[in-house]
Amino acid sequence: MAQLTRRHFGRATVAGALASVFGQFLAAQEDCAPPSGTPVDFVIPKLQNIQRKSVAELTANEVTRLRLAYQKLRDLTASDPTDPRGWMQQANVHCWNCGGSGSDIHGSWTFFPWHRAYLYFHERILCKLLNDNSFRLPYWSWDDSNYRSVPAIYRPQQVGSVTNSLYDPKRSSAAVAGQSMPGSIFPPTQNPMNSANFAAFGGGPDAGGSMEFGPHGAIHMWTGAPDDPNPDMGNLALAARDPIFYAHHCNIDRLWAEFVRRNPLGHANPTDDDFMSRGFQFFDENKQLVTIRVQDVLDTAPLGFSYRPGAKLSKPKSPKYTKLKYDPATHLIQLPDATQAAVAGQSVLVRQRSLVVKDVKLPMKSGSYNVFVGDAPAAGADQSKAANYVGYIGIIVGAHHHDQKCSLVLNATNAFLQSAGSVGALLTFAPAGTTDGAALEFGSAFLTEE
Ligand code: C2O
Repeated sequence: MAQLTRRHFGRATVAGALASVFGQFLAAQEDCAPPSGTPVDFVIPKLQNIQRKSVAELTANEVTRLRLAYQKLRDLTASDPTDPRGWMQQANVHCWNCGGSGSDIHGSWTFFPWHRAYLYFHERILCKLLNDNSFRLPYWSWDDSNYRSVPAIYRPQQVGSVTNSLYDPKRSSAAVAGQSMPGSIFPPTQNPMNSANFAAFGGGPDAGGSMEFGPHGAIHMWTGAPDDPNPDMGNLALAARDPIFYAHHCNIDRLWAEFVRRNPLGHANPTDDDFMSRGFQFFDENKQLVTIRVQDVLDTAPLGFSYRPGAKLSKPKSPKYTKLKYDPATHLIQLPDATQAAVAGQSVLVRQRSLVVKDVKLPMKSGSYNVFVGDAPAAGADQSKAANYVGYIGIIVGAHHHDQKCSLVLNATNAFLQSAGSVGALLTFAPAGTTDGAALEFGSAFLTEE
């Protein structure tokens, strides 16, 4: 019930536009309740630890097996729509946990562990349907700039004379056409893998992290185009109806594992009781409802999977953190005197600087938002090229409103350093392509220097 206190009751600038956007999804949301069941506690399985592979690495046989798995999942929905393991029921699990139950595992530190558990049970179910315990989910390795289009095996509607079970008709035209996602989703100075700690990367009890509200959200929006009439990936209530969802989240899961692997840099998972003992419910491969806890999923090997160490988007450096002055009344950020002097005394090219803002208040409308120092530049132009652009927020939400907060990594540009060193920098954010900006409100700001 804690979530009730986070419900959204209409923040000024965006409230009006919301009702119509979400109205159309309410029906889907309310229909996604899970079948009932009596949960038992999760028992760590004795599974062989097999590395998950990227989609690009799958052999022809593995592609055939993957397609067969999703075909069997779809067939199960057709033959028994109430079977909790079927494709639509699986998609509904995600719908239910993005607000369908009145709670939402997004926008907080449950984001990573809940999705890991979800993918684990999904993988167990696919193994069962295939009668093959060696099946593992593949990941869409979009961290590598060579793999930023929807992988080819997910794209054709037909393979020969057979329907492609990995195809989803409700994708954006760019995704369908196999185009690459825009590079603006991955600015080098806005790299979530460079977050200094888990709180910045993966969030806390009431705030999401830089991965969720960075590439994760932006890729959802790009794949599903939320303004399309057919947005599967672009709305959380519907997103898991697209098989690419599982490959997208498998990569998110892998990047979490990679982030934590760099533990010497201070990337350890939280150890708070509230985190470790938080329970989630899923139906397993035998239709048994199971309660699994965060502490059960922090180590993947006992769950039968692991990832090869290393990832693109990786930069194993330990940045220096400086807390900035922030006035919550005026929303102005200022550099401490020592930093002002240091910045003035050297070329900004000497060091790579990022601006980390925590506990950012977010609007409850899916979309890509650009963040600027001062006012948004004229609409129509590519605003990410503007001198006062510092980054973006990729927001994807379900049908239920709750106040969301997040941590963001932004680019500490010249324009930012100059204003923050003199009058104070005012950050604004606006839906991409508009000048419809509002001041970015947040809890605290830091400058990181590598
Ligand atoms: Cu549960 Cu990508 O969202």
